[in-house]
Parts: sequence; structure tokens; C-alpha cells
Amino acid sequence: MTTTLADWLAAQTVDPKLASVVATMAAASAEIAAVLRLAPIEGHTGLAGHTNVQGEAQKALDVISNDIVLNHIRENVEISILVSEELDEAVHLENQGDFMVATDPLDGSSNLDVNVTVGTIFSVLDARKGLLQQGKDQLAAGYAAYGPATSLVLTFGASVVVFTLDGAGQFVLTLDTVAVAEASGEYAINTARERFWDAATKGYVAENVAGETGSAGKRYNMRWVGSMVADIHRILMRGGIFMYPLDSETTGKGGRLRLLYEANPMAMIVEAAGGKSTTGREGILELVPTGIHQRVPVILGSAEEVARVEGWYAKG
Ligand code: AHG
Ligand code: MN
Ligand code: MN
Ligand code: MN
Repeated sequence: MTTTLADWLAAQTVDPKLASVVATMAAASAEIAAVLRLAPIEGHTGLAGHTNVQGEAQKALDVISNDIVLNHIRENVEISILVSEELDEAVHLENQGDFMVATDPLDGSSNLDVNVTVGTIFSVLDARKGLLQQGKDQLAAGYAAYGPATSLVLTFGASVVVFTLDGAGQFVLTLDTVAVAEASGEYAINTARERFWDAATKGYVAENVAGETGSAGKRYNMRWVGSMVADIHRILMRGGIFMYPLDSETTGKGGRLRLLYEANPMAMIVEAAGGKSTTGREGILELVPTGIHQRVPVILGSAEEVARVEGWYAKG
């Protein structure tokens, strides 16, 4: 007996208006999935010809995905504010709803032209509390991973579930409890940045590279997809740690990844699944944002591994 997303949302003890916001982002994700599948045929590849507020050359699909999200959000009277990686300022919609969505409409877009998994990340907050809320005040978080299957991962804070897009464009429940393994022998970091790393990151990674011959006492494997959604979905499914730490090149910008629509939603999901999330020195969900596109260091995943990284940072 399949459980559709609508069935599952109806059975949750959450505000139906909040559930409708999640349903809106799921519908947007299903439409983005359909566009991505045919993009090379439709010619939606390459650059859009603009630079976004991040200083990134926008891909055509970044803009198309952002437009799809905006179209769906405008249809839900419960949503009054949209913050997006691809929009310089927050959009205040005509709707007077109580909810705000912060989204990365297409995460990992450098992987689009090589057909590697990308995703859509979203965070739901109370629009009446302002734009710059701590991640611990998120009401819901989720992401779609456009991979061999299209997965939709959701949490309202207590647990994490996974839906899969079926042939009819419906999300059906395929995993009703996700738990991040406490221990793991797999880490994800862009090792080409080693020369920029701080001592804590260098120390932690060196222990992993030494494997069973060193203080970590076990063998490690390394995976780096370059799509946060893909790397974190792997960690949710089989454990591991994701690291985009502050390094000497990103220090001036606060980090590489964005707090409102990458770090916070992913931290909420990972922690609801029993994992941990930190900047290295403080919990991500505790950070008080200074701007809607603020960047922060992101270290999250299996609790034992995150604790070992925090131990390295505590050494000073
Ligand atoms: P986006 O495509 O939304 O701009 O995000 C890309 C991010 C994230 O998905 C990924 O983990 C990271 O960029 C990869 O950074 P590097 O290319 O420096 O490895
Ligand atoms: Mn981008
Ligand atoms: Mn991203
Ligand atoms: Mn993006």
C-alpha cells in the first residue's frame, strides 16, 4: 500500500498551512525534475548570461528553477516571503501568509552539464519573525535530490522521511525513518583546497588519511560530488561527514555555503536524523544570521566524526 505525500502530510500533527508550504515546494521540485530530465534536448544548458548576487555565473537552469519555485510559491496564499540564492533581495509577495521560504532552487549546478546529481533545498520559517532567524527556529526543511531517482527528503524537526517521485509525477513514501549512522569511515571534503585549510581541518583529515595506521584506528574512504544535496543524501543514507570548513580563501566571506538556504535546512535535517552540525566552533542552528546570503563554514553528519572535528577546533 503506497503512501503519497498528500496522505503523509494529512497524517502529521502539524499546522495544515505549514503542510501546504511543504506540498508547494514538493510540487515545484517535481516540475524541476521534469525540466532537468529533458534539459539537453530542450537546450536548457549552459550559462544564462547573468551573474547572481553570489558573484556566480548563473546557469540557465538556475534561473529556470528559480522561476518554477516562484510560480508555485505565488499560488500558495500561506507564503508571503521568498528568499532565494538567485535573487538579490527577499521577495515580499502580495500574499499575507504567515510563512517564509528560503531556497537554493538548484544546488550543485556546476554538475548540470555533466549529468551528475543536483538538487533543490528549502527552509520554512515564520514570516512574522523577520528574515534573519536562527536555524533552530525553522518550522520545516527539505530537499529534492535529482539523481537516478528523484528523492524528496523532509523534516518538521522530529524525524526525517524520504519520498520518491513515481512515473505519474507523485511523491510516494519510500523511507519512513532516516537515522544518520553514529560512526562512519567516509568523509567528504574538497581536498584540492588543502593549502587553504586551518590546522583543525588539516589535523582531522590527516588522521583519516593515516587510517588504521594512525590515531583514528580505522580505514577511511573519501567522496566529493560537488553537489551539497548529493553528498548529504549519501551521508543520510549510509553515514559520513560533510565538510566545507572556513579556509584562508573563504574567511573574508565567512565561508563558502549559504546559511539560510543551504546550511540551516541541511543542519535541521541531519540533526533530526540523529547527526550533528557545526561551524567547527559553534552549532549551525544557533547562528544569528547577519544577512540573507550570509556564508558560513559547514561541518555535519555522523555524530562521532563531527565530535572529532570539534575536538580539533577545541585545541585552539
Ligand atoms: P550552488 O550550485 O547552489 O551554487 O552550490 C554549490 C555548492 C554546493 O552544492 C557544493 O557542496 C559546493 O558548492 C561545491 O563547492 P566546490 O566547487 O568549491 O567544491
Ligand atoms: Mn549557485
Ligand atoms: Mn547550493
Ligand atoms: Mn544553487
